[in-house]
Amino acid sequence: MVPLSKTGPAEDPIVHRGWHVVAASADIPAGELVKRNLLGEDLILWRNNDTVIAWQDLCIHRGVRLSLGKIVDGCRLQCAYHGWTYDPSGACVHIPAHPTLKPPPKARVRTYACAEVAGLIWVSLGDNSGPLPHLPELDDAAFRQVRSGPYFVAAGVTRLIENFLDVAHLPFVHEGYLGTPDQAVIDDYNVEPLGEGLFAPNIGIFQPNPDGSGKGGKVFYDYGVLNPFCVYLRKKQGSNIMTLLYAITPVHETSSIGWFVTMMNYAHDVPASEIAAFQDTIISQDKPIVESQRPERVPLDLAEELHLRSDRLAIAYRQYLRKLGLSFGTE
Ligand code: FES
Ligand code: FE
Repeated sequence: MVPLSKTGPAEDPIVHRGWHVVAASADIPAGELVKRNLLGEDLILWRNNDTVIAWQDLCIHRGVRLSLGKIVDGCRLQCAYHGWTYDPSGACVHIPAHPTLKPPPKARVRTYACAEVAGLIWVSLGDNSGPLPHLPELDDAAFRQVRSGPYFVAAGVTRLIENFLDVAHLPFVHEGYLGTPDQAVIDDYNVEPLGEGLFAPNIGIFQPNPDGSGKGGKVFYDYGVLNPFCVYLRKKQGSNIMTLLYAITPVHETSSIGWFVTMMNYAHDVPASEIAAFQDTIISQDKPIVESQRPERVPLDLAEELHLRSDRLAIAYRQYLRKLGLSFGTE
């Protein structure tokens, strides 16, 4: 269960209108009302047939939490206090104390944009939320999907995203898993703009056991930035592809929740629990590193901190954030 946060709403419009993961699809079973908090806004999530609905957790009549109420007729939400009943659009359609009265148009709950992608529930608090994160693997039946997280990390979203995009840390923080310190050289690579974000193809990385055979070898990673809060990598070895989608939900400027979706077109016999446990291990290795970083807000001025050729993707990410004008979690 994602704990309720005490933080106020994010004032940064990019954060406010961004799509953020609030739950896994499996956390929202039919017939249940599920509470979440996104950037200080208390939400209620529930399912109407195939659609997940995200509302402010507040009845417009006397401000009671709608999460105290119940779903009636499978498709309406009834407030616990006076029984006002809302349809899936958020309109009040029944006031039991005045059964013949047509509820006034103002009797509506505050609704939010909500979508289900990659087995995760995404909510935007803004009116103009833009495109949802998408990767072709999500629609490709050859790829199975394994979700892991939520990962609670006491670091800001930009520090976490940079950590994911950082190739040179793999031999050290993930020694024996994703690299080895005596093969730490990072070949030159390019970063290009792609769609709304960034793309860095074919970064060569030596790994101690890239295919499970126990023999070390070079693999190639494509990295992509879909938006300031959602990135991915695609690890390629011949026709075997493993794609990892990483979405970070900002909680506060210095705390975040991470979600992984691992997509693979091979090794379908490996139990999903094993894949999720591997990702749990990787995150547990990154967590003390990113939680220790100071300043906690990422400096977007490239004169701050030191940047080398192997940091090209982090540099491009900082320039991208600067161009967008993100102020949340940056300085
Ligand atoms: Fe919800 Fe009165 S407060 S019906
Ligand atoms: Fe890492």
